Amino acid sequence: MTRTVYVNGKYLPENEATVSIFDRGFLFADGVYEVTSVLDGKLIDFDGHARRLARSLGELGMRNPIATEDLLEVHRELVRANSIVEGLIYLQITRGAAADRDFAYPCEDTPPTIVLFTQNKPGLADSPMAKTGIKVISIEDQRWARRDIKTVQLLYPSMGKMMAKAAGCDDAWMVEDGAVTEGTSNNAYIVKGGKIITRHLSNDILHGITRAAVLRFAREAQMEVEERAFTVAEAQDADEAFFTSASAFVMPVVELDGAAIGTGAPGPVATRLREIYLDESRQVAI
Ligand code: PDD
Repeated sequence: MTRTVYVNGKYLPENEATVSIFDRGFLFADGVYEVTSVLDGKLIDFDGHARRLARSLGELGMRNPIATEDLLEVHRELVRANSIVEGLIYLQITRGAAADRDFAYPCEDTPPTIVLFTQNKPGLADSPMAKTGIKVISIEDQRWARRDIKTVQLLYPSMGKMMAKAAGCDDAWMVEDGAVTEGTSNNAYIVKGGKIITRHLSNDILHGITRAAVLRFAREAQMEVEERAFTVAEAQDADEAFFTSASAFVMPVVELDGAAIGTGAPGPVATRLREIYLDESRQVAI
């Protein structure tokens, strides 16, 4: 099926949608993005993603080309037009196309480029991987120092996924100064003695929208949460590990660098948090 996508104010069949070769997203990775999940045909945590988008744009001094209520309407229209019941909506805004390639930003009145498309993922909430858990390797974190901004510079995370694949694993957790920062496209957690441990917020990691919701639900369920950095050795010695993201929700991690974590199967805390997250998020989806 040909998808309907959104480009600069227009809904178009995907094969008719185009962006300039001078677009700064293409030439300089000068753009930001968001990924919002869809369950039961509704958007999960749209407000959180819209707020983070505004923050990312602000941090880069980029103009926001669309009001939040209009952005919501575009998301909903794409869900409708593409009959998405479970899936993802990808949104990207770049600093637009200058007249030529130039490192300096183009003049203020250059219109930003905005693109949205859907990814149909039937069975997203009922992922078989959530039942078996996934295996990760650790790699050095070689990204830039503003990982709190959700930019489209994703080459190193892509390389990390390929390194994981080559090692027969599913993903990589990145390590800096001896501590885990985050996964290639997710936030990382361990559980020890019933306590959920995840890195504190700073410029070193993306401030995950799923992370914020999961920590809120965990605290509401009287689970203990500690926001601090942890090492690979600590993770290997943990009772459980998991990661969170808008595309995987809460995903158990059962192996790190070849060492089984806990029993080597998804643990009760990750399993419970996934259930709570899916239940609660569905109730307030819009
Ligand atoms: N990735 N950390 C990184 C580096 C990420 O790329 C992501 C999300 C997260 C989790 O953030 P959230 O809970 O808001 O999805 C953490 C998206 C899903 C992606 O790149 O596809």
